[in-house]
Amino acid sequence: MTEAIIDPVILSTARLTLRPFDTSRHLTAQYVAWLNDPDVVRYSEQRHKVHTIESCRAFVEGFDQGPSRLWAIERRDDDTHIGNIHADIDTINSLADVAILIGNRYAWGHGFGLEAWDAVLGWLLNEYKVRKVVAGCMESNTAMLRIMQKSAMTPDGERKAHYLLDGQPEDIVFCAKFRTG
Ligand SMILES: CC(C)(COP(=O)(O)OP(=O)(O)OC[C@H]1O[C@@H](n2cnc3c(N)ncnc32)[C@H](O)[C@@H]1OP(=O)(O)O)[C@@H](O)C(=O)NCCC(=O)NCCS
Repeated sequence: MTEAIIDPVILSTARLTLRPFDTSRHLTAQYVAWLNDPDVVRYSEQRHKVHTIESCRAFVEGFDQGPSRLWAIERRDDDTHIGNIHADIDTINSLADVAILIGNRYAWGHGFGLEAWDAVLGWLLNEYKVRKVVAGCMESNTAMLRIMQKSAMTPDGERKAHYLLDGQPEDIVFCAKFRTG
């Protein structure tokens, strides 16, 4: 696996371009508003926080050093920034933990989440050659569960009644995909 990454990685899919997150272009009030939208963060621990440009900048700057990556997801037809996807990369264990947020709710349900997800998993496993990709979500997050299933991830354990969602205990479900080649 590559130890140090210098080149920016731009991933193109049929309808999306995934660009390295650029603060001058992507760190916007709209992005902050996504994180403060209760519907968008319903299944995320981010729902307990108030987000600001400064807090988002701190998150983004965390990717400046080290191998982990944050991409902005843009539609190719109109260049709209619809969300972000990131991979926390653990080079020692050749492992990547991926998470996605399609913040623009009007973009939900059109297959953009799966399209971005497949592109990042493909790059991590086939180009960067990480050994294992993992992800997790609350059991009630049906759309995220479908994305993990449809990207051919397999069950990788769960944490029973781990979080409280609307006051009710909620399992966290983990999935994984291993490099085969
Ligand atoms: C979860 C999320 C990434 C899904 O993205 P998306 O672009 O709407 O998903 P897609 O359109 O690619 O759909 C993927 C699958 O989920 C299904 N799906 C989408 N929205 C759904 C919903 N609200 N309820 C149930 N299933 C849903 C789709 O039908 C599709 O399955 P199918 O092909 O079997 O029909 C997006 O809703 C999101 O970012 N939500 C907020 C942040 C979040 O929860 N991130 C994940 C936490 S780890």
